[in-house]
Amino acid sequence: MKTSNKFYVTTPIYYVNDVPHIGHAYTTVAADILARFNRLRGKEVFFLTGTDEHGQKVEKAALERGKTPKEHADTMVRNFMSLWEKLNISNDAFIRTTDAEHVKTVQGIIQMLRDNGEIEKRQYAGWYCTPDERFWTEKEIVDGKCPECKRPVEEIQEENYFFLMSKYQERLIRHIEENPSYILPETRRNEVMGFLKNNELGDLCITRPKSRLSWGVPIPFDEDFVTYVWFDALLNYFSATRYLAPEAEAGKAAITLNSQLSGRVDPDSTPDSDYWWPADHHLVGKDILTTHAVYWSTMLMALKFPLPGNIFAHGWWTVKGEKMSKSLGNVIDPGKIADEYSVDAFRYFIFREVPFGLDGDFSEEAFIRRINTDLANDIGNLLSRTTKMIEKYRGGQVPQPAEGKERDLEKKVRAWFDPGSDSGIPERYRDYLDNLQFNLALQDLWKIISGINEYIASSEPWKETDQDILSNILYTLAESIRIIAIYLYPFMPDSANKIWQQIGLNRDIGNIKIDDEGKWGGLKPGTKVRKGDPLFPRIDINKKFRKPLKETHKKAAAPSIPPLEKGGFKADNLIPISDFAKVKLKIGRVLRAERVAKSDKLIRLQVDTGEERQIVAGIGKAYTPEELNGKKIVVVTNLKPARLMGVESQGMLLAATDDSGEPVLLVPEKDVKEGAGIK
Ligand code: MSP
Repeated sequence: MKTSNKFYVTTPIYYVNDVPHIGHAYTTVAADILARFNRLRGKEVFFLTGTDEHGQKVEKAALERGKTPKEHADTMVRNFMSLWEKLNISNDAFIRTTDAEHVKTVQGIIQMLRDNGEIEKRQYAGWYCTPDERFWTEKEIVDGKCPECKRPVEEIQEENYFFLMSKYQERLIRHIEENPSYILPETRRNEVMGFLKNNELGDLCITRPKSRLSWGVPIPFDEDFVTYVWFDALLNYFSATRYLAPEAEAGKAAITLNSQLSGRVDPDSTPDSDYWWPADHHLVGKDILTTHAVYWSTMLMALKFPLPGNIFAHGWWTVKGEKMSKSLGNVIDPGKIADEYSVDAFRYFIFREVPFGLDGDFSEEAFIRRINTDLANDIGNLLSRTTKMIEKYRGGQVPQPAEGKERDLEKKVRAWFDPGSDSGIPERYRDYLDNLQFNLALQDLWKIISGINEYIASSEPWKETDQDILSNILYTLAESIRIIAIYLYPFMPDSANKIWQQIGLNRDIGNIKIDDEGKWGGLKPGTKVRKGDPLFPRIDINKKFRKPLKETHKKAAAPSIPPLEKGGFKADNLIPISDFAKVKLKIGRVLRAERVAKSDKLIRLQVDTGEERQIVAGIGKAYTPEELNGKKIVVVTNLKPARLMGVESQGMLLAATDDSGEPVLLVPEKDVKEGAGIK
């Protein structure tokens, strides 16, 4: 990965045939979090998003609306631009593939590949899936249908230009093997590798005859053809660095472009040989990983351009367990959610709820629960209690801490923010974001927030008579909140700035550097706090979702319990309820899971049950570690630790076993916070 001080992150460019939904917002907010964090780190950031405006899908959507494709794109692009504004997306540029500069770059590159013998004209017969705009071979189609979208394919015979992708197969395998973080998460990398190792890579058809499709970038050396939309679209990541990146116009990027496009390419070009290229992260959904991992990587190899640092494939959102679709009417509009609740609650929820690489299910109930517990309760209350106490006990001014009167309690809180300390957040947060483990960064932050709420409970400032100690408590609280806001900022920029305003700081966190301002002691005594409105007002979940009881239900008499049949219920070996009460059951969330070496049955899990613990469970034949990640399970938390194959287990998870003997995990029926007790 690039070691320079630049950070370049991209989202896919979205088709303008549809309106934006939660899936589009997911990647774009993810890129925004990374961009904002890297700016705080002092990096020079280029955050690119945009729209994919050529191809059959767009042409068809335009036709249906009685518009030209460009008119259609000009209208639809506004939906994306205004949603990004609403969601507080800080993209540095917005690329449209109809931009004249992009079109020129695509043509220059195709010409260069043709000149270098990387493109060939061939007669071609294949099966074409119009909705996916992809050719399939006879072997690949399933019952006359597209193997991906399952819609019918048509047989097409035509002449086309092919990019000689197959010759890069071995090199691509080697690159992925040598660069473990090139494709993430690991499960997806394994899938790509499995595909590359078990199949012969074909060449890629990169043109469409104009007779069939005219809405595309014209091929510079043959007027009968336009470019295949993916070939044009993928190049956006590169072309944007030529005309949209900061300083691109100033010439730094353009100089290398000219030499590259005229064929004078340095075959040993290193990642630093160009100003912005390559990107650090391409964020994509799992459905478009192949086009990025295989097409894009081999295109770059043929161009002799360096490969990006990482391609990360995130999971898909379903809604109440179903795929989103217009016909089901369950498409989640992030703009509406943001209007009804808040932009920041939405941004928080989608990254707190599910690990970035896994699929997630959106439910408004779970969303509201998170707003009420994590946001209104944990952070919202912490802020309002703190400002209230500073107003009440210190006339609204942050007190001067009393040196020498610091107790262990204060020292412990301080250590949470200490760079280099084992319990400190700075390094861990950075590592989590570098690895796109957004949910873990938030989990860690919330552990600290809960820790500070516990610190208030155990310090009982309202009972404190020693004024020095009280000053220290109030300073510790206000200073913790100030630093927490910096870490919240990439995820919830508006709320983080509001927190700063309430503790009397007027600057935009977006303009600070975390290394300077993230240090303990930055809050000046005497700063005047300004208690404001609650950050996240509580939402009455019952009012919103309570279903009226049916009359018949209300009136129905309580069902009588049938007498026990003889032989059904055996009254021996019963225990009193006090025995059961000894067992402490809690909800746990699996943070990480991996197989125990040399065992096909045992899996070692790190589980958050309010505190982190390690559990070894014999479920390895029924579950893979990947599918356990992020799962909520039921844990016995007060068992004496045991060792299984030399690994300590600090608890037990509950699973049912039926006749098959395969364990089936017990999971809560609705989402419950980790650490919740079970009675
Ligand atoms: N135009 C191409 C991308 C070209 S990039 C060089 C494209 N566009 S898209 O608009 O169809 O999809 C864009 C992204 O939205 C993809 O990354 C896809 O994974 C994502 N999602 C679409 N539905 C989604 C969910 N339900 N959940 C999460 N992401 C989903 O593909």
